[in-house]
Amino acid sequence: MTTSTFTPRVFSGIQPSGGLTLGNYLGAIKRFVKMQDEGMPTVYCMVDLHAVTVWQDPTDLLRNTRELAAGFIASGISPEKSILINQSQVPEHAQLGWIFSCVARMGWMQRMTQFKDKAGKNTQNVSLGLFGYPALMAADILIYHATHVPVGDDQKQHLELTRDIAAKFNHDYGVNFFPLTEPVIEGAATRVMSLRDGSKKMSKSDPSDASRINMTDDADTIAKKIRKAKTDPDALPSEVDGLAERPEARNLVNIFAALNDQTVEQVLSEVGGQQFGTFKPLLAELAVSKLSPISTEMARLMSEPDEIDRILGRGAAQAREITVPILEKTYEIMGMVR
Ligand code: AMP
Ligand code: TRP
Repeated sequence: MTTSTFTPRVFSGIQPSGGLTLGNYLGAIKRFVKMQDEGMPTVYCMVDLHAVTVWQDPTDLLRNTRELAAGFIASGISPEKSILINQSQVPEHAQLGWIFSCVARMGWMQRMTQFKDKAGKNTQNVSLGLFGYPALMAADILIYHATHVPVGDDQKQHLELTRDIAAKFNHDYGVNFFPLTEPVIEGAATRVMSLRDGSKKMSKSDPSDASRINMTDDADTIAKKIRKAKTDPDALPSEVDGLAERPEARNLVNIFAALNDQTVEQVLSEVGGQQFGTFKPLLAELAVSKLSPISTEMARLMSEPDEIDRILGRGAAQAREITVPILEKTYEIMGMVR
């Protein structure tokens, strides 16, 4: 059973649990735009039901969801070309999520490293939703029969679980109803690291603001964070091998390559031999030139929240043309009276 019998469709989602980082932009949104512009049908989602697996202040959640929508649109996701939605406005996600909670096995869920990282020593006191989260994520994808999911490297295991859930459902009911979705994890920036610690992922939840570039940072702040980014004392190498034991250097070169649509090899052929004192200002200038038009447009969109809500309302209606029939068919396959 392969995806080849299913019409190609792209789905991906981001949590509205805080501001967008450069990691989200390079690892996810920039690639969402590319896939949209390549002409496949695309559905992009603010996953508010995932965000509330940990406490969200209601005022912040409302604002963060609209800000994330603004970030998508300002980065080039067009509501004319893509279906842009907020998860809780398309109830079939949660409904299929329940079904998948009954398909997924405890043992599968207990292996999820993101849960272990997020729960830490606190496993008895985190929400049940945090544990069940990957079943809802599988539902987000499969309620559209999506075949391709662009994500950063940290989501790989969840996508394998999504395939396991689809395969088990298909097997248990003797159907070929859900596709085995392909993860799309590619490019130089599938894992953007913290600017303070090259072994940690850049994350909106890191307590240190200096560890990340936020999409809403102004030019001075971006330049300052890059200037202060942790590095080593050596010059940049001319070959990729020379970055092997140098996580901080590798991260900055990866960021440069991804922002400039180049490969790491191309970047090193130009900047190899440079000291960080020379390279960092170049990187800062590049980052500001790519990010500041986006943050300016985000701020403009945020001044019209009603317009954002209208776009999301329209997106939800378009989405439900796809999700309602797929949920109905799922229930029918399972023997539920319709
Ligand atoms: P999240 O912010 O956790 O909802 O992540 C949304 C998307 O951004 C997912 O596809 C992640 O894999 C991606 N992402 C988040 N942080 C990073 C990072 N530091 N590097 C690359 N991709 C990332
Ligand atoms: N779990 C993803 C994250 O934390 C967000 C997400 C939820 C997602 N549902 C999805 C990503 C479906 C891709 C497809 O980043």
